[in-house]
Amino acid sequence: MTRLKLRVNGEETEVEVRETALLLDALRDGLGLTGAKRGCETSHCGACTVNLDGMAVHSCVVLAARCEGKEIATVEGLSRDGALDGLQRAFLKHGALQCGYCTPGMLMAAKGLLRRNPRPTLEDVKAGLDGNLCRCTGYTGIFEAILEYSRTSE
Ligand code: FES
Ligand code: FES
Repeated sequence: MTRLKLRVNGEETEVEVRETALLLDALRDGLGLTGAKRGCETSHCGACTVNLDGMAVHSCVVLAARCEGKEIATVEGLSRDGALDGLQRAFLKHGALQCGYCTPGMLMAAKGLLRRNPRPTLEDVKAGLDGNLCRCTGYTGIFEAILEYSRTSE
């Protein structure tokens, strides 16, 4: 076992994990942050997506030990004082979720996309989320939510 210092959602934290632990393991099992979901565990579904230094990554294929010194952001960090973030509100408005299993990953993939491209086209959004699968919504609501949010946010 090893003890890692990780910065998660703006706060310094320590977590004890196996040397080979993945970031998804450290978040879910070590820190109790279960927003990032365990899906395929082979970097195909995107359910585990978080942001690492602002970039969307599949946390099921990132070694936790390589995340020391980096800024990790998870879906738990989006809301403030119990109030949903604007992108989360847009997802609700557009019915961009049904079972919700993919939703944390979709939100964090969208955050990563909007950070590097604040005014994406529909094609940009589709490309930005092509690592994230949803089995329920048909994607239309998800794309509309991200586009509307991008047009209305600062
Ligand atoms: S669980 Fe990581 S991409 Fe599917
Ligand atoms: S809302 Fe069910 S997988 Fe996307």
